[in-house]
Amino acid sequence: MAKGAPQSKHSVRKAVFPAAGLGTRFLPATKAQPKEMLPIVDKPLIQYGVEEAIRSGISNIIIVTGRGKSSIEDHFDVSFELEHMLENKRPNRELLSLVRSVAADADISYCRQKEALGLGHAVRRARELVGNEPFAVVLSDDLIHSRTPCLDQLIRAFDHTGGAPVLALMEVPRTDTHLYGVVKAEPVENYDGRLFRITDLVEKPAPAKAPSNLAIVGRYVLIPEIFDSIDRTGPGAGGEIQLTDGLKHLLRTHTLYGYLFEGERYDAGDKMGYLRATVEFALRRPDLGRPFRDYLKSIKL
Ligand code: UTP
Repeated sequence: MAKGAPQSKHSVRKAVFPAAGLGTRFLPATKAQPKEMLPIVDKPLIQYGVEEAIRSGISNIIIVTGRGKSSIEDHFDVSFELEHMLENKRPNRELLSLVRSVAADADISYCRQKEALGLGHAVRRARELVGNEPFAVVLSDDLIHSRTPCLDQLIRAFDHTGGAPVLALMEVPRTDTHLYGVVKAEPVENYDGRLFRITDLVEKPAPAKAPSNLAIVGRYVLIPEIFDSIDRTGPGAGGEIQLTDGLKHLLRTHTLYGYLFEGERYDAGDKMGYLRATVEFALRRPDLGRPFRDYLKSIKL
């Protein structure tokens, strides 16, 4: 475990970060860099995700990269040149500790998805590094602001169920079901009113065919059996190997749960979601919130 990392409070020690998608909704910014490196205020999306994992007791981070691999690796690597410059030329303790803290608490390893064949395929690529233990999946373009880290909420639910997979759920307008994986589910009693037992899953259903308005968002706690299920999953929506389809296969033999997490989710892989996240994260920042709010108020719309 990395020095200074909190002891894992829970049963989940590893988190997989798929970051090999094409990011077509954010071209041309994603032409030569993964969308996970897009900054919200001053931090790349993937760093928010890694920090959420660390705050949830997970320091073993597995990043699945594709094109633009080097920018992610460089970001989490030690930058001797930059640190030397900050130490000597322009002594700046604050910036130095900011740069050093990027990956101080994480053990990061990488694997490669050569072709963007879908989220299920990307998760499958991490099999060797995950091994035979439960693991989390974080889609860092789903940015989540919450009091308790979303992943921590899911891991607590996972522990409560005795180790059954738990997916993050969010209520969406009926008209938007075609943008998400959607579940059919029934509430579980005797927890906190947010836990559901999943009875079916459908990837991107048309509103008329959606089994509910409970959509899956980018946080999962999974079990290693999912890898065999993905292996038995052919291309689905959009011709891609979908994680939702792999989960549907897993449902044949395992109980699956969904957790309606507390918090605000931003789809930062979409331009409008990205703008909302930028504005709201800047407004919440102690150093920027007040001047930025004054600036926004001053704009004549
Ligand atoms: P998205 O569907 O949001 O990402 O996948 P995308 O395909 O890159 O984006 P658009 O729709 O073309 O704009 C969710 C997550 O899964 C990863 C993405 O990097 C993102 O974190 N992903 C997706 C992969 O790693 N590999 C894939 O083949 C597909």
